[in-house]
Amino acid sequence: MANGKFITLEGIDGVGKSSLVPCVNELLGTYGFKTLITREPGGTPVAEAVREILLLKWDEEFAPATELLLMFAARSQHVTEVIAPALNRGVWVICERFSDASYAYQSGGRNINAAFIDSLAELVHGDYWPDLTLYLDIDVELVRKRRLDSEDDRIESAGLEFFRKARERYRELANRTPRIKQIDASRPLSEVKDEVRRLVREFVKVSTSK
Ligand code: TMP
Repeated sequence: MANGKFITLEGIDGVGKSSLVPCVNELLGTYGFKTLITREPGGTPVAEAVREILLLKWDEEFAPATELLLMFAARSQHVTEVIAPALNRGVWVICERFSDASYAYQSGGRNINAAFIDSLAELVHGDYWPDLTLYLDIDVELVRKRRLDSEDDRIESAGLEFFRKARERYRELANRTPRIKQIDASRPLSEVKDEVRRLVREFVKVSTSK
């Protein structure tokens, strides 16, 4: 059986990734592909427990390396238990966030040298990189205004400067990585959905004609 494809959605907190997942899933369903929806950090019981540790507001500061290592601990479980087996069974995996988020948040936002992330990614998932990444780009101030009412977790509570740096890193990655498609998420949701569908259709066409 042919391997499944690995599609990720990325962007700073509050950009609206979650509302686009059903849109991608429904579209893939129309082609008859089996799909699996998952997220990071999380996706297995152990990885979800690590997620709780990561997002809780503790009385002590997280060292940047602690945050990075926990992200990759969760990812290791997720890839081993869920992502790799699904792809190998021919399932198309739709995942909210993956290692690109570690480059944006832990390297861009927390100033960790990207070379450490390269090494951890190689150790934890080797060749399992997304085939297509939908990066939703939005101005940091605009997203803050949109989500004024929601309660922030530990990472969301980081200041605007942290999110500006994370966004900058996402945009740099998108500029130099062909699999990452940058989408202007400041537009109305219906327009963003149309573009997401167009990109996924294009991806399906190219990847199934090989
Ligand atoms: P979520 O709210 O999109 O589910 O993600 C949880 C938080 O974890 C979000 O603030 C982004 C952050 N995160 C990182 O900092 N690094 C990572 O590698 C991942 C996957 C998520």
